[in-house]
Amino acid sequence: MEKYTREGLKGGWGDMKIVEARSKRGPGTSAPIEEELEIYEEFFKIAIGNKKKTRNLVLGGTPELRDLALKYGSETIAVDISPKLLLALTNVMEHKNEDNNKFMIGDWLDMGKFLQRNSFDIILADLSINNIPFEKWESLFNTLKKLLKKKGYFIIRHINYNQSKKFKDYKKIIDDFNSGKNTLLGLVFECGFCTGLSQKAYNTNKKEFVWKSVIDELNILKDMLDKKDAVNFDNLTAHAKYHTSIATSEKEFHKLIRKYFWIKKIGIINRLVFSHYMPIYLLRTRC
Ligand SMILES: C[S@@+](CC[C@H](N)C(=O)[O-])C[C@H]1O[C@@H](n2cnc3c(N)ncnc32)[C@H](O)[C@@H]1O
Repeated sequence: MEKYTREGLKGGWGDMKIVEARSKRGPGTSAPIEEELEIYEEFFKIAIGNKKKTRNLVLGGTPELRDLALKYGSETIAVDISPKLLLALTNVMEHKNEDNNKFMIGDWLDMGKFLQRNSFDIILADLSINNIPFEKWESLFNTLKKLLKKKGYFIIRHINYNQSKKFKDYKKIIDDFNSGKNTLLGLVFECGFCTGLSQKAYNTNKKEFVWKSVIDELNILKDMLDKKDAVNFDNLTAHAKYHTSIATSEKEFHKLIRKYFWIKKIGIINRLVFSHYMPIYLLRTRC
């Protein structure tokens, strides 16, 4: 196991407090929301086409995506590096007891060694690439393409970082949230991406947001939220504290991903400001 993955497991993905915070699901986590799941489902149906049964790989334990594939009677294999998190996330699944629900402990970067080539119809992922060091992205795209059957699909929500020319102030970000124009996750990302905090949090060489460096400053926003939102905000920042997000500009991501996949569709929820930075992609392997 590579050094950074081992460190990640020790620092975040394996820590019991993080496991609890992440497996709660809902607005205080980075789980996809209902409208995003509708986009996933729309794309998933396109990917199934007229096939009766598909074989799916899910990058990570994300219960909502595994439940979506299982709802369509698909064999679904989730691969996650953290045994504790994978079990906790499996436990909150709706279809956890189905025979088609399979899961493995493993590093996505090693999947070429333990999963069969050309064996998956669809790969589903939620913010997964954003966990991988930038210099490994292409190697992972290459592995995913090899694991997919010819003309297979890759469906992923992915964060892009377009550096703001003009910073927003916290009040505007909170007002957007309070008037339903953002999710709590979007609010945290907006603060990190679109305010002066980005200068502190974003390492331009590694293309990495180090949330630990700004979480204390974000905590002052809690007072501007109502009680229920403040509790969810606490849960979200509890796991963000140990988290880094690797993000490039949209242009750079599109250029890289197009070497391996066609971009078939990009799903955005128009009412949500942050959805524009965190779209859901329907990708198809290039031959
Ligand atoms: C896929 S992201 C999904 C976050 C998502 N928003 C959610 O709440 O479901 C987080 C998961 O990826 C797993 N993970 C991170 N890096 C990994 C790697 N290199 N290989 C396998 N799993 C990894 C973590 O253990 C964690 O369960």
